[in-house]
Amino acid sequence: MELIVAVYDDWGIGCCGTQPIALSADRKFFRETTKGAMVIAGRKTIGDFPGKKPLPGRVNVALTRTMQEIPGFTVCTSPEAAAELAKTAQRCFVIGGGSVYRQMLPYCDTAYITKVHTTVGCDTYFPNLDEMEDWYMAETLLSGEEDGIAYEMLLYRRK
Ligand SMILES: NC(=O)c1ccc[n+]([C@@H]2O[C@H](COP(=O)([O-])OP(=O)(O)OC[C@H]3O[C@@H](n4cnc5c(N)ncnc54)[C@H](OP(=O)(O)O)[C@@H]3O)[C@@H](O)[C@H]2O)c1
Repeated sequence: MELIVAVYDDWGIGCCGTQPIALSADRKFFRETTKGAMVIAGRKTIGDFPGKKPLPGRVNVALTRTMQEIPGFTVCTSPEAAAELAKTAQRCFVIGGGSVYRQMLPYCDTAYITKVHTTVGCDTYFPNLDEMEDWYMAETLLSGEEDGIAYEMLLYRRK
């Protein structure tokens, strides 16, 4: 399983249920990378989807303990169930948020990390893969600058 996330310099990923700074280059990278794949999101992140609707052109999976059905989503009630379901897909990405990344990280061996080189106040963080011995940065896929903010799309792999 793979994951995709945008992190600020302190590995913050969100505040008050949303991303304080979201670059259009990163949104494009996300759309292109996850196109046609299964995507797994926590119920709070789904609340931040455009119109709270499933992402088009992807198989949408929701992790929740409180909702039995969410239109357009396959509902899973545990990370284990989501990991089993992921086996039925050619590609499956964990797409957040914080609690779901943390719980699903052990199932992932590839991580697409967009580093957005700024720091904004966050209440949700991604584990710092640069400090984890079992992960390494394998490749820089893209880099650029938008609105004066430098960014890099990096591919991390589990050793
Ligand atoms: N920077 C990025 O790339 C990125 C990407 C995605 C999200 N985010 C940010 O991340 C933040 C949201 O993250 P979050 O941690 O607050 O919420 P979240 O992970 O999106 O969703 C949490 C919800 O998922 C469900 N859940 C979690 N663990 C579960 C389990 N073991 N079994 C069943 N259901 C489970 C629960 O839903 P129920 O309460 O319904 O049971 C829980 O309340 C937002 O700020 C968002 O903008 C950032």
